[in-house]
Formats: sequence, C-alpha cells, structure tokens
Amino acid sequence: MVSFPVRGSTQAPAKINLHLAIGEKRNDGFHSLLSIFQMVDLFDRIELTIKPQPVLSVEIEMDGMQAVENNTMELAATLFLERVGITGEVTITCKKQIPEKAGLGGGSSDAAAVLLLLNRLYEYPLKAEQLLKLGSEIGSDVPFFLGDTPCACVEGRGEYLTPLAHRGELVGFIVMPEGPGISTAKAFAALDAHRGANGVQKSTLGKEKLIAMYAEEPGKWRFTNDFRAVVGSLAPLYDLLDNLMGEFPGCFGTLSGSGAAYIIIGEKKDEIEVIRTKLEKMAVNVTICDIKSLHRGHSGDTV
Ligand code: C5P
Repeated sequence: MVSFPVRGSTQAPAKINLHLAIGEKRNDGFHSLLSIFQMVDLFDRIELTIKPQPVLSVEIEMDGMQAVENNTMELAATLFLERVGITGEVTITCKKQIPEKAGLGGGSSDAAAVLLLLNRLYEYPLKAEQLLKLGSEIGSDVPFFLGDTPCACVEGRGEYLTPLAHRGELVGFIVMPEGPGISTAKAFAALDAHRGANGVQKSTLGKEKLIAMYAEEPGKWRFTNDFRAVVGSLAPLYDLLDNLMGEFPGCFGTLSGSGAAYIIIGEKKDEIEVIRTKLEKMAVNVTICDIKSLHRGHSGDTV
C-alpha cells in the first residue's frame, strides 16, 4: 500500500559511445545503429514528490529553474502515471551535471531514472518489458538506461541490447566544447545530407568484432563514429584532439553520440593525467570533466 506524499530520489548516469555506426534511415524516420554504450560515473540528481490530487499535473525544475515543456522527465512521469492510472501533483527537481546536447544521453537517462523510481515507489505496477516499451516512446537511448547492464552493444534504433562482459576499469575525461552543443535530430539530418545518393558505406566492424575489441586495451581499439564527418565548425577542435591522441597510443579518443562531447579514455590514470595537463596548456575553449566506467549497480536511490 502506497501512502502519500510519495517521495524518492535517484541519480541518472551519463553514457559515452565508444563506437557509433549509423545505418539506413528506416520507414519510421529513425536510423538503425550499431554502437557500444558505456555508462560512466557522471550523474544528474533527481528528486520526486507526488501529493494526492484528482487530476494529474507534472512540474519540473532544473537547477531551480522551470524546465522547458516536453522535457523527457515530464513525459516519463506523465506516461507512467497515465498508464498505471494514478493522478496527483508531481514535482520533480533535477540537479544537472551531465551537459546537454553533448551526446552523453542526459535527457534519456533522466527519463529512465524517473520511470525506474516511479515503478519502485508504486511497488512495480509495470513489468520490465512494459517499461522498455514506454521508455522507447520517450527516446531512443532510454531502453539502455532502463537496463542494468553498464556496457552494451546497442542495435535497432536503440532497443536491442547485448550486455558486454565486465572488463578492467576505464578512466578518462570528457572534453565539452564551449557553445550551444549539437542537436541530435540536426546531426542525423546533416549525416543524411552528407551521404546523399551514395548511401551508407558498409563497415567491416561487425557486432562480434566490436564485442571482442571492447575486451582489448583501449590503445588497440579501432572504433569509429559516423557523426565525425558532419561536425561542422567543431571539426578543427576534434582534429586537434585526434592529433593529441595520436601521441598516446595506449589511450583512445572519440566523439560521443552525435557530439558535442569528445571522450578521452584509457586504463592508466597517470597516462590520462599527462593528456589532461597537455590539453589544459593548449588553452582551447572547453570544459573538462573526469569520468570512469561504471561496472555494477550505480543506484543512488533513497526511497
Ligand atoms: O529518440 P531521440 O529523442 O534521441 O531522437 C531525436 C531525433 O534524432 C529523432 O527525432 C530522429 O530525428 C533522430 N534519430 C534517428 N535515429 C535514431 C535516433 C534518433 O534518426 N536511432
């Protein structure tokens, strides 16, 4: 039996894409993809309260400011409560740490965190597969964040997940360029325009190869990101970062998602520190944020 007011908090982790191959545009307008998603220890903090009311209303505050309409958390709470048949006045506050328009999955992770928290607070009215279906209505990356696997090979539009076996810890940092970030929808449109009549080039990196590569040391990774071809005015910055990574053959650097975050990752903290110091001396206009890979339960729930 649930007693009002319902209250809980949780944290929503970021993801990085170690590899991202974009396939054809499907009939539903989404593109099929083949990607390696890795959760990392950068979190948004979410608090949720529900008071009894005869109608459903959802209010979202992000860092003390009212959120834009159709925020992914608003959508998640509204869809969940409608499906389960609950009314009330819902207040969600979110302290953002994950940069937006970065390719780090912040909006999708926030939505998944709200769904998981609500399902727990209401004693699991929705089964895992119902949550997954609901999640994919909100965003392509939401199913990954609903799962309990911190690293997966992701296919389809984002709904088919193959969990990857635990490997040694990855350490590194996110390089976030100053500026407005990159809209996912615009990046997909730019990629379609760039490919034009030539369509999709078939990659030699199939799923099995990707999974085997993930287990190797980052210096041996040959992962790629198709969005790298359409980064526009950020190309000089990423070229500089790629060149920098060329000096550190034990580590790996890549654009995450459709950008704008660039990830530098390896297995040795001291090597990462050297890269970081070198980058800081280059006086490029970026924000740097340390990360490490998540392996197990990352929940910060206090229900
Ligand atoms: O699902 P999500 O909100 O991340 O998608 C944002 C936009 O990115 C979609 O509206 C679509 O234009 C594009 N997209 C796509 N193929 C995907 C994921 C996203 O074309 N697999």
